[in-house]
Amino acid sequence: KLRSVVRGCGSYLPERIVTNAELAQRVDTSDEWIVQRTGIRQRHVAADGETTSMIGLRAAQAALADAGMDPSEIDLIIVATATPDHTFPATATQIQAGLGITDGAAFDLQAVCSGFVFGLATADKFLCSGAARAALVIGAETFSRILDWEDRATCVLFGDGAGAVVLKAEAGDGTLKDRGVLATHIRSDGRYKNKLYVDGGAGSTKTVGFLRMEGKEVFRHAVVNLAETVRHTFAETGLSGDDIDWFVPHQANRRIIDATADKLGIDHDRVVVTVDRHGNTSAASIPLALAEAHKDGRIKPGQLVLIEAMGGGFTWGSALIRW
Ligand code: ACO
Repeated sequence: KLRSVVRGCGSYLPERIVTNAELAQRVDTSDEWIVQRTGIRQRHVAADGETTSMIGLRAAQAALADAGMDPSEIDLIIVATATPDHTFPATATQIQAGLGITDGAAFDLQAVCSGFVFGLATADKFLCSGAARAALVIGAETFSRILDWEDRATCVLFGDGAGAVVLKAEAGDGTLKDRGVLATHIRSDGRYKNKLYVDGGAGSTKTVGFLRMEGKEVFRHAVVNLAETVRHTFAETGLSGDDIDWFVPHQANRRIIDATADKLGIDHDRVVVTVDRHGNTSAASIPLALAEAHKDGRIKPGQLVLIEAMGGGFTWGSALIRW
């Protein structure tokens, strides 16, 4: 049986850091409110002209260097983003060109904050079927460009950044002892569009638009849906919270992360948290957190890593990876 094995992981964060104190000079908020409600202390913000494809390319290069692989070995690039450089062409094709790759296929995938989980699930199908040999799955976002910087309820929550993994199709023995992606589960339900959406686009205002959110409602659905998708993955694999070495959730809000870990029976010292320094970077948050914990040696080869996310749509999903 073919498995999608993680061979490399890397990330990139724009240089500029915006602290809560800086935001408190722009809108009526405080460091205390933001930290208490979200756990966020700072976020990175892309420079003028620094696009999603540029930061995604940096993350892809870091992941390839970590894998010790040449770009020419990659025949599939999936970029999860809700903030593409252009309506078209796909940001993925620009990263492909930046890497000097002219073979294979590159496309974007849009599932907002769940994008990395959806991208990983999609790449896994290509690799396990033999349709591709090696894939880059990239989460890259510049949410700073779709924030209403006058709306204190949303502008304090998000940040920019990119993360990437290199997956390679390798033979396994078909058991849970194999390295690689062991299970994926993705869901969506479009009835909840108005809880979290961007009020622009070619079909509406013809402007880029701003992110709009009913925060309390999103919070309520997030805790329920995240537990549901992980329980599905546990049922499919016969595993439980005790078996998980590292829980790497989408980084939206410290309170959502803690509530979900508690529901799943995962101790907080096995949870990777970056939301304090990165804010919510949407599809980039999980690969950014994976890259950090991989680089500092917390996540080791052979360990079981659980990822989950929920985002606009709604979309949500989870995946289990033996690193
Ligand atoms: N600073 C100070 N006060 C604020 C701020 C702010 N930045 N933002 C809102 N407030 C005020 C509100 O105006 C409100 O005031 P009022 O009571 O006078 O009307 C008060 O704080 C409480 O507002 P709520 O929205 O009820 O606060 P809540 O405790 O729900 O926290 C938050 C808001 C942090 C947005 C929370 O609902 C949340 O995290 N929701 C999840 C949203 C999320 O993570 N979305 C990301 C995309 S989806 C995902 O990734 C899971």
